[in-house]
Amino acid sequence: MMDWTDRHCRFFHRLLTRRARMYTEMITTGAVLHGDRARLLGFDPAEHPVAVQLGGSDPAALAQSARICADLGYDEINLNVGCPSDRVQNGRFGACLMAEPELVADGVAAMKAAVAIPVTVKCRIGIDDQDPEASLDAFTRRVAAAGADALIVHARKAWLDGLSPRENRNIPPLDYDRVYRLKRANPALEIVINGGIATLAEAAAHLAHVDGVMMGRAAYQDPWRLLAVDPELFGETAPFATPAQAALALVPYIERAIARGVRLNAITRHAVGLFHAVPGARAFRRHLATAGVKPGADAETFLAALALVREEAACTAAA
Ligand SMILES: Cc1cc2nc3c(=O)[nH]c(=O)nc-3n(C[C@H](O)[C@H](O)[C@H](O)COP(=O)(O)O)c2cc1C
Repeated sequence: MMDWTDRHCRFFHRLLTRRARMYTEMITTGAVLHGDRARLLGFDPAEHPVAVQLGGSDPAALAQSARICADLGYDEINLNVGCPSDRVQNGRFGACLMAEPELVADGVAAMKAAVAIPVTVKCRIGIDDQDPEASLDAFTRRVAAAGADALIVHARKAWLDGLSPRENRNIPPLDYDRVYRLKRANPALEIVINGGIATLAEAAAHLAHVDGVMMGRAAYQDPWRLLAVDPELFGETAPFATPAQAALALVPYIERAIARGVRLNAITRHAVGLFHAVPGARAFRRHLATAGVKPGADAETFLAALALVREEAACTAAA
């Protein structure tokens, strides 16, 4: 999620779930081809499985970018066909590509020819005055025929005229049934549902109809939920018994990053929502928002914030 997630966020989330797949925010083909690759695309091996999301529409540029990302070790290439921002529309990519299934298919085919890892597409159920019943089926047929390995569908339209990107994540109504029907009509294609899924119970309910669930805002804002992903959705033990233990496991990462010149807040801003319904959660957030943003803040600052959380494991571990 642009402006929200980054490699630090993914590393932190990976401490909370071994099984969930992480996605980068959208990175344009222009940035991949001409930008600072180490900064834009670097990731920690612990983040696997991790997918990179590309923004673009020129098949040759997509293929070249996909190859670069595959060589860097990403596990999946995902194409953004859902972003409604003006900037993206001007570049003729993102959600406006819902109206150009042929071009998307050409991009998918070019990427499939360039890499051996899965190539997936993240789209909306439609845009503007499209009839999602017909247009989503036609879109899916084309990208599946081009070799797409999965479709992640944000279950609402994007209205490209008049709504901001934020409004386009909230105002067009969610239509989960449309995505369920898409799965029924394409039983061999992996279909992942996205949009407004707030809890793991909701995620589990969707899994009765589709192959996967993508959580955006809930995963970011309530990272504590991720600790239940492995036990509740995959039947495996959680990586840590408590959020506080996961937070302690972040400390060596913080120390390494700070030694490389990263500021504490660049990492801990992703962790402010880690504690839910435990005494001290607010004090933890406040300490990170005050002491945590000062120059020189370091792992000790994070540990001090953690010591304010009166979760049993936090006290034991910090003692
Ligand atoms: C700040 C922000 C940035 C986002 N950036 C991206 C992005 O780069 N690529 C993308 O496919 N979706 C992006 N999204 C959309 C989310 O991936 C997701 O489709 C949307 O928020 C609906 O899912 P949710 O209700 O689980 O958050 C972004 C959402 C937010 C809130």
